[in-house]
Amino acid sequence: MNKQTINELNKRASRELEKLFDLDKLREWKRQYLGKKGLIAQLIKQLPGITDNKRPEIGRQINQIKNDLKKAYDRKMSNLQNQPPKTHRQEPNNWFDLTAPGEKTNLGHLHPITQMRQYAEDIFTRMGFEIFEAREVDDDYHNFESLNMPPQHPARDIWDTFWTNQGLVLITHTSSMQNRILSTKEPPLRAVIVGRCFRNEATDARHEHTLHQIEGLLVDRGITLRHLIGVFKAFLDEFYQRDVGIKIQPSYFPFVEPGIEFLIDCTICRGKGTMNKKQCSTCGGSGWIELAGAGMIHPKVLKEAGIDPQKYSGFAWGFGLDRLVMMKYGIEDIRHFHSGDLRFIRQF
Ligand code: PHE
Repeated sequence: MNKQTINELNKRASRELEKLFDLDKLREWKRQYLGKKGLIAQLIKQLPGITDNKRPEIGRQINQIKNDLKKAYDRKMSNLQNQPPKTHRQEPNNWFDLTAPGEKTNLGHLHPITQMRQYAEDIFTRMGFEIFEAREVDDDYHNFESLNMPPQHPARDIWDTFWTNQGLVLITHTSSMQNRILSTKEPPLRAVIVGRCFRNEATDARHEHTLHQIEGLLVDRGITLRHLIGVFKAFLDEFYQRDVGIKIQPSYFPFVEPGIEFLIDCTICRGKGTMNKKQCSTCGGSGWIELAGAGMIHPKVLKEAGIDPQKYSGFAWGFGLDRLVMMKYGIEDIRHFHSGDLRFIRQF
């Protein structure tokens, strides 16, 4: 035994101790080094065998090491006992405390359109509708042809359309999903389609190149316009939490017959047409706002999707979500939605 072997033992013991993170193994370590028959005790036993004058010095060295190791052991023990339960402990200094209070971070919030979209989806879900999402790029067949608009049909001009070089369409309306749903679902069916639509038109306070539509589709036996009006009004009353006034006027879309247009009483001026003795800018003074195109699904559209129009009838509507949200909050310009202006976004 000499100074060097004692030092080596010390180093080995410290190194092993450092790597221990388990109470049982820690106790085992203590027995091995500091126990009655442990390695340190064995060294002490050998002391009387040292006959030269180095004995007192070596004795002191062993004692020092014994005390140091004991202290390190106690420290480790109390650390381990104060740590979270085993399951939270993985690596030294790398454990994750699930019970610790979180750090406060500002995650922002959803865009007002997204918030209202989810709100509307929730209402329709409760009314028994299944929610679908429209493709943003689709083909001519689904956006036009399957909707009773063969190529060259003049009604295609209703929509100022963006075409891709490959002849695909940036969907002009969520009706692009009608054929897909009608041909894959069996009546009775209730579907709501939500999607982003695109129009190649000049923008102003009420028109955007990108807009959001919510389309409704219901097919069953004996469905009439009265069902359409009832369902649509039930939704609006729930959405605005009031008795919404609605007006219906004839309109034309090739995929419905008859075609109608829903107007609702202006939420901002409450249908009066004036605000603070001035003309209401939201409805242009008429007291009414055009909200949706709608109608009874054209027999040709049903037939194209493999549904027998003799047996079944159905209705469809499509309304602009942006306009609905503008009315709910009194937003005067549709272009705010895509402006990315945080001063606008943070108000919701
Ligand atoms: N797709 C029509 C539009 O975007 C709206 C509509 C939907 C009309 C369903 C009738 C039936 O203008």
